[in-house]
Amino acid sequence: MRSETALVFVTLADGLDQSAVQQWLTQLADFIGALEAPPRRGTQLASAVIAMGPRFFTRFADHAANNPHGLASPIRLPSASIDADIFLHVSYTSESRLADLLRLLWETRPTVVAIDVEHGYARADGREAFGQLDGLRNLDRVQRRRATTVDPGTLPEEPAWFTGGSYAAYLKIEQNMDPWAGLDATTREQIIGRHASDGSRLDHEPGHNPHSEGAFTDPSTPPHASHVRKSGPRGSLHDQNLIFRRGVPYVEEIDNTLHFGLQFVSYQASLRDFDVVLNHWMLNPDFPERGSGLDSLVANNLITFLLSGVFVVVPHDDRFPAAGYFDPAPEPPHSRKGRIHIRKSAVDQNGVPTNAEVGDIEFQLFESDGVTAIGDPARTNPAGRAVFPAVRVGNTVIIRESPSDRFEPVADQTITVDKANVLVSVVNRLRPTAPAYGG
Ligand code: HEM
Repeated sequence: MRSETALVFVTLADGLDQSAVQQWLTQLADFIGALEAPPRRGTQLASAVIAMGPRFFTRFADHAANNPHGLASPIRLPSASIDADIFLHVSYTSESRLADLLRLLWETRPTVVAIDVEHGYARADGREAFGQLDGLRNLDRVQRRRATTVDPGTLPEEPAWFTGGSYAAYLKIEQNMDPWAGLDATTREQIIGRHASDGSRLDHEPGHNPHSEGAFTDPSTPPHASHVRKSGPRGSLHDQNLIFRRGVPYVEEIDNTLHFGLQFVSYQASLRDFDVVLNHWMLNPDFPERGSGLDSLVANNLITFLLSGVFVVVPHDDRFPAAGYFDPAPEPPHSRKGRIHIRKSAVDQNGVPTNAEVGDIEFQLFESDGVTAIGDPARTNPAGRAVFPAVRVGNTVIIRESPSDRFEPVADQTITVDKANVLVSVVNRLRPTAPAYGG
């Protein structure tokens, strides 16, 4: 079933108390229930993903300990950020269901003070507004679950109530149709990095299945700045960084002029994974190599970022959406073993965060003598995360980073493992002459 899309941003009044917000969320659950209920003797006509915006988590200081960790250090967004409490990603085949939902929400004024709605349409031919096949290399069911679901075993920094949730990233991107129309077919393919006819990658023969593509082997085909090379650089390291894209095209009329573009929505367990694709890769002029330039869609002014936002997709709760947020944080479970999780980031010579590659850096765990290695080394993924196998709680261990050409060495860290999951932050300073990537 092909569905149309509405992205609904709801702002609640300032200063509401907890019980007013909880009552409103209970109503929201009923509204979504009505939206999703199949008609008698029919199939479902609509469904919605429910998410909370950063604004929601500024309301209740008493529950700040339950705030999603991913909101604590915001990622850089390319345009004005949406300041809504609630984000509903609605898919529908009957617009009357969407209209009913909007009417019900509107009737909850003055608790609700504003509702913004963005639309996108189902592609009939799988092509985005520039006419290229889109959605070819997305995640399969297994990858999707792993890449989009918050799991305390891999992201222990997230609060317990958020287990099973996800993060949504939203970008409204206008596609500048007239400059695109002026480009010849070869240039367009170079910008995207795929053949227009069937979406096969430019370094493969037409007909090659995008799902069986390997790493890029040709140094310049597709070009380094092509969209697929910047957003999906491939290889065993970069393939670890996955986001699930659910973008849809839109067309709208403003002052008698038509505007076309993409309502980009992606889901991922960590906003760092989105940050890697957008900021470390696409908008980093030194990725994949120094001087590669920005993503060709941006560098050629073919797209304009209009709106941005990040949201917290709450796990289902039978009481009301985000009910778990208001519960006291549970005591961490007792555990006889604990795992150390590395969180690596990079700064430049002035201590300013950089988009340098923080993946594929090796760490080794040692006994407290600093000599006896424990287990195999662990390597960071492109978001700078690595995890060691569990050691006994109470053990004191040393964490050592292997030297690299890119970073100034950091001191060993001595840690006593005191719980099931221990987080260790490692900040590296990029060497003055080092390339941010490679090396
Ligand atoms: C209007 C803007 C955009 C257009 C027209 C566009 C179009 C496309 C097209 C035609 C493809 C190739 C087909 C496919 O692999 O699905 C693609 C791939 C992709 N895009 Fe975009 N895209 C846009 C923005 C973005 C943004 C903002 C991001 C992420 C922040 C992104 C991430 C990706 C990723 C991860 C892939 C898969 C690359 C691969 O693994 O080969 N795109 N896009």
